[in-house]
Amino acid sequence: MRVLMVCLGNICRSPIAEELLRIKCNQIGLTIHVDSAGTANYHVGEAPDNRMVRTAQNYGINISNLRARQFKLDDFDNFDLILAMDKDNLRDLIARCSKEEHKQKLLKYQDFAEINSPTDVPDPYYGTSEDFIETFTIIDESSTMIANKLKRYADESR
Ligand code: 4NP
Repeated sequence: MRVLMVCLGNICRSPIAEELLRIKCNQIGLTIHVDSAGTANYHVGEAPDNRMVRTAQNYGINISNLRARQFKLDDFDNFDLILAMDKDNLRDLIARCSKEEHKQKLLKYQDFAEINSPTDVPDPYYGTSEDFIETFTIIDESSTMIANKLKRYADESR
C-alpha cells in the first residue's frame, strides 16, 4: 500500500500526516509506504514549518528531517491512495487528473478517516500556536482511524 498526503505547501499539514500515519501503522504491524507533497511549489526543498516541528516535538515526534516537494503527475501512478487535506487541495488535484483510474485514488483525508467534524483539516499557516496544536490534534485522531482502516483492508485481502 502506497499512500500520499497532499496539502498546499507540504510544510504544515501533510508532513505531520505522513509521519503520524507511518508511526501508527508501524505500531499495529502494518507495512506501508507513505509520503507527502504540496500542490504549490512555494516551499520545495524546505523542512516543515518550525511551528509544526515544535508542536510535533512536544508530542515526541520528529519531523525535522522531512523536505517539501511539489505534487507531480507521476504520483498518480506511484501511489494507491492520495489524500487531500482540504477541499481546495482536492479540487487542485482533480484538475490535474486526466484518467478516471487516477481520479479514483483521490479522496479528502477526513472523508477517508470517516470523521466529519471538521470535514477539512484547517490550514494553520496564518494562525497561532493554538491553531498548530488544533491541526496536530485533528491529524493525530484521523491518523489512528486511517491506520486501522488500512489494516482492515490488508487483513481482508490476505
Ligand atoms: P500547508 O500550509 O499547506 O499545510 O503546508 C501552508 C504552507 C504555506 C502556505 C500556505 C499554507 N503559503 O502560503 O506559503
